[in-house]
Amino acid sequence: MTVEDQEPTPPQGTRNAAAAAAGGAGSGEHGVTIGGAGAPARPVPAFDGHTPAVRQTGDLERYARLFSQRTRVMKQSAMRDLMALTERPEVISLAGGLADTKLFPAEDLAKVLSHMAAGDSARALQYGPTEGLNEIRPCLAEVMAAEGTIVDPDEILVTSGGQQVIDLVCKTLVDPGDVVITEGPTYPGAVPTFSAYEANLVQIEMDEDGMRIDLLEEALDRLAEEGRRPKFIYTIPTFQNPGGVTMSLERRHQLVKIAQEQQILVLEDNPYGLLRYEGDPLPTLLSLDGGRFVIYAGTLSKILSPGIRVGWAVAPAPVRQKMVIGKAGSDLNSSSLSQLFVAYYFRERDWRDYVRQQAEVYEARRDVMLEALTRHMPEGTTWTRPQGGLFVWLTLPSQIDTTDLLARALQHDVAFVPGRGAFLDGRGGNSMRINFSGVTEDEIREGISRVGSVIAEQLELYASIAGTPRPRGGSTRGGSTGTPAAPGPTGPSIVPLRTAGRRRGTA
Ligand SMILES: Cc1ncc(COP(=O)(O)O)c(C=O)c1O
Repeated sequence: MTVEDQEPTPPQGTRNAAAAAAGGAGSGEHGVTIGGAGAPARPVPAFDGHTPAVRQTGDLERYARLFSQRTRVMKQSAMRDLMALTERPEVISLAGGLADTKLFPAEDLAKVLSHMAAGDSARALQYGPTEGLNEIRPCLAEVMAAEGTIVDPDEILVTSGGQQVIDLVCKTLVDPGDVVITEGPTYPGAVPTFSAYEANLVQIEMDEDGMRIDLLEEALDRLAEEGRRPKFIYTIPTFQNPGGVTMSLERRHQLVKIAQEQQILVLEDNPYGLLRYEGDPLPTLLSLDGGRFVIYAGTLSKILSPGIRVGWAVAPAPVRQKMVIGKAGSDLNSSSLSQLFVAYYFRERDWRDYVRQQAEVYEARRDVMLEALTRHMPEGTTWTRPQGGLFVWLTLPSQIDTTDLLARALQHDVAFVPGRGAFLDGRGGNSMRINFSGVTEDEIREGISRVGSVIAEQLELYASIAGTPRPRGGSTRGGSTGTPAAPGPTGPSIVPLRTAGRRRGTA
């Protein structure tokens, strides 16, 4: 972990094979990085009146000089790039972070929607308060209570997904150049948000117990010596995306203590807390802190539906008030229709039961994935063993570059998220995130087998170039031996879980 004033510029070698596979001109590791605000003015070709304007938008020069400075550092999310690539039905995508919405009974949706239409159609079709409709806020408080976090519904700001909470927190707190601390790796979807607000990210390594608090303290000391204070610490303490690890209770206490003593805000992003397959639930940072320095981001995306775009924030009142103003400027209010659907759904169905059903399905898929990894990953590969959530983080032998590997994998119709998308400093080159919730058990087996094959191919190629013996697949895997892969020059930050690679069912 380095504490550097990292300019949020794209890492070296921005044009990569996967982007080339996408055929997207200008696509970099994080997708399109649009430059131009400071570029010298060049003559702009006039519209010819014949070519449809939409096609002419391919000519960036026409617009580049109009773009704000901010667009020079804006990045596309690695995941968003991939969504376009994985749309082909033959692709087994281990790249998503999707709840399996096929599990939701269509007849339930039809019934709840028709009751809502009969009872509240005018309101469902109307604008609503920026803070959210009164009916939905107790539902969201109920979701939090299921994890032992008690809040007053009036403290809840309804948002358009958890993603909007990240955006609103940045809008409220971050000026260009401000330091934001995150885990390394962090949620790839937050990277474009931090970039858009021109934050300087300091990424703190994790191990099996989540963010390393000793390294956080070192980072804070170094920043203090430089006269800098982070605006906030962004963490996904439970079933981290992309790492799959969970912050221990001890570290939760330590983090909250640091936040309180140093008066630093913490953004606790908790989309996955209720998707626990084993182990004891842990208290949220918000509940440990009592709402003084922790801002909480929740969402229904992973336990009900990402399509309804319902999330929420709980924040100290002065921060929340600014977030409300920020939200009004973005979208006035979150969809009334979605909010009322949630209120009706909570009234008419057992939402906890649906969460339980999903957790059962995902647990089985996780187990299939862990078993498939044991079977197909070559020696020197390690992976995390999540107790919940949707993701496994894989660390490959250091000579493998997963961004390049993705291009090969796509030729074999399988996709994953290359690790670099979860860092802003070029780290993560030999790691990847794989998802087990949005694919069937058969697809997981087949997908992991294909990923294993392309890794084996790459290792063979590397060995033939370097003249070194190729690590043999199928014997000892890093995950099963507990031996971490040697980190590459810009090595990964996660070490395998204590339980990594053990047979399923064992803790
Ligand atoms: C850690 C984390 N935060 C936020 C989000 C955004 O979710 P949504 O906006 O759908 O609530 C996601 C989605 O994958 C996520 O994994």
